Parts: sequence; structure tokens; C-alpha cells
Amino acid sequence: MIKEILSIKDLAQDEIKNIRDLKEVQAVRVKYLGKKGILTEKIKALGTISKEDRPEFGRVLNETKIYIENLISRHEESFKAAELDRLLKTQRIDVTLPGCFTPGGHLHPTSIVLEEIIDVFLSLGFRIEDGPEVELDYYNFEALNFPKDHPARDMQDTFYVTDDVVLRTHTSPVQIRVMEKYKPPLKIIVPGKVYRCDADVCHTPMFQQLEGFMVDKAVSMADLKGILEVFAHAIFGPDTPVRLRPSFFPFTEPSAEIDIGCVICKGSGCNVCKQSGWIEILGAGMINPRVFKSVGYDPEVYSGFAFGMGIERITMLKYGIDDIRLFFENDKRFLEQF
Ligand code: DAH
Repeated sequence: MIKEILSIKDLAQDEIKNIRDLKEVQAVRVKYLGKKGILTEKIKALGTISKEDRPEFGRVLNETKIYIENLISRHEESFKAAELDRLLKTQRIDVTLPGCFTPGGHLHPTSIVLEEIIDVFLSLGFRIEDGPEVELDYYNFEALNFPKDHPARDMQDTFYVTDDVVLRTHTSPVQIRVMEKYKPPLKIIVPGKVYRCDADVCHTPMFQQLEGFMVDKAVSMADLKGILEVFAHAIFGPDTPVRLRPSFFPFTEPSAEIDIGCVICKGSGCNVCKQSGWIEILGAGMINPRVFKSVGYDPEVYSGFAFGMGIERITMLKYGIDDIRLFFENDKRFLEQF
């Protein structure tokens, strides 16, 4: 009996030696140790062995089973390791290869500058309002103290929708809309699109403006100058000189044009500043008492300043861009520079 088991052991050993892959490992395991395996059958038959022989027979049988089990497991491990090795070699990932690159978009240069400007005014306590781009003549002109025959109403400049409705030519009408709605004190900015029938290197039929105004008791020209200086220094640099030059707008009195020292020649004179050393960046002034009257504010009690700037113009000066049309051509060679 014992001899028979030892010969099973030899046979199994030979077979295990010749195993070539994991599949064969499994087959050998089933053949000897499976439910109906050769050794399993022998274990099942233990009961038929005489009582005296049973312990010895059981011990040899058990040792043989453990021996074969270990042998198969060791083979299995080495096949698994070889397989893993093969996979690592054939399916290697080259982590140095460049990944799939989706180029990210970014803000348009006028949006970058607009956001910078808005940030400056928000930090000074202003809040944002907006109004319609298709506007009543009343808000765009009348309530802002534009006389009926003022040149700004000329068909050359204004896109008329009907006799009473225009595409707004500036963001100033939002002053009226806001003042009709709220009581002072007010510190407002209004970024938005405006429209004028005009086109050359400095003008496009649609462009963006940012209006600003402050109304309270005792607001003075000094407040206007202080605020605009903070703005100019934040956008063009802390050493930029700022000056107010007398001007005219129907809705402000007095009115001023705000100039900064030429960003190109730093004041020594060049083509951009027409040899003057100064560049105009925006219009401003103290809100005309007639405007206050049209919204029902008492000009004896309240005063205020207002200003309006062109975003494309500020962007052109900040980045030294010499043709406004570049902003609208969607040429990536231009846009990717910002
Ligand atoms: N609305 C004017 C324009 O488009 C700009 C402007 C000038 C706005 C003076 C103002 C201001 O608020 O006070 O030309």
C-alpha cells in the first residue's frame, strides 16, 4: 500500500517537473488533489484499511499530500512571476511620453483689462450696475442734457432704431436709470457695450465703455481727481502723471478730459501723443445740476462726479496696440500674446 503511494508521489513529481504553463499547473492539481483526484481517493479509502496499518498509512498519505501541494504551489508561483514579468515587459507604460494636450483658451485682452479696471473700482467701494443696449432717446440724450440739435445725435454717429429708440452711444444713460431707481449716496460703475456709426484705426461700430459716478452730499472735484489717480496708477503704473484738462460734456459742469503722461515716450514727445507728452484716457466732470433735476435729486443738497472711458482705448495704451480692429479679427497670433 505504502509503496503504491510512494509511486504516486514519484509520478506526480515527474509530471510537475514537465509542467509548461499555469493551465497545466491547474490540471495536475485537479488530477492529484481535486475532488476525485488520485490522492483524494486514497484518503477517502482510509476507512477500509485495517486499524493497525491505518496510522502509518495515514501519515504517509498526509505527508505525500502536503509535499505534492507545496510542489505544485511553488511551480504555480514561478509561472505567475514569469507571467507578470512578461506583462511588465510587453505592456510597459512610457511615462516620459507627452500626454494628449488640449490647448486652454484665455480671456480676450479687452476682458483682461476690463476685469483689472473693475477690480480697482470695487476695491474703492463702487458697485456694478447695467442697463439696456437698445435705449430710449430720452435716457441716451434728453435726460443727459443733450440739446435736440446736438451733434452727438447726428445720424452719422447714432444708430437709430426708431425716432425715439437708439443703440446706446455711451454708458452714461445708465446714470439716469440708476439715479431714478436709488437715492444717494451712490458709487456706481457701469461696464458695457456701446454703438456708434464709425470705423477706422481708432473706432469700431461697437466698443466697450466703463462709466463711473458718485453722488453724495459734498462730493467735490478733488474726490474725482483722487479716485481717477488711484485708477490710473493701478492700470498704468504708480509713477504715471495724471492731469485734468478743461473740456465740455452736456451732462457735466465743469467737465474735464483726463490725460496721463504718454506711456510710449514717457513725456518727451512722440507720434502717439502728437509730441505733447500727454494722452487722453477718459472724460469726466461734476454731474450737471440739470441731470440731477431730471431724476428728481435736489442739486442744492447733492453733488457728484461722473467719468466714462473706452475699454479698447485703455487696452491699446496699456499694451501699445496701434489698431483697434485687431481686437475683432480673432487672429490667434495677436490674441495669444496676452
Ligand atoms: N459719455 C461720454 C462719451 O461717451 C464719456 C463721458 C464723459 C462720460 C464725461 C462721463 C463723463 O460720465 O462725465 O463720450
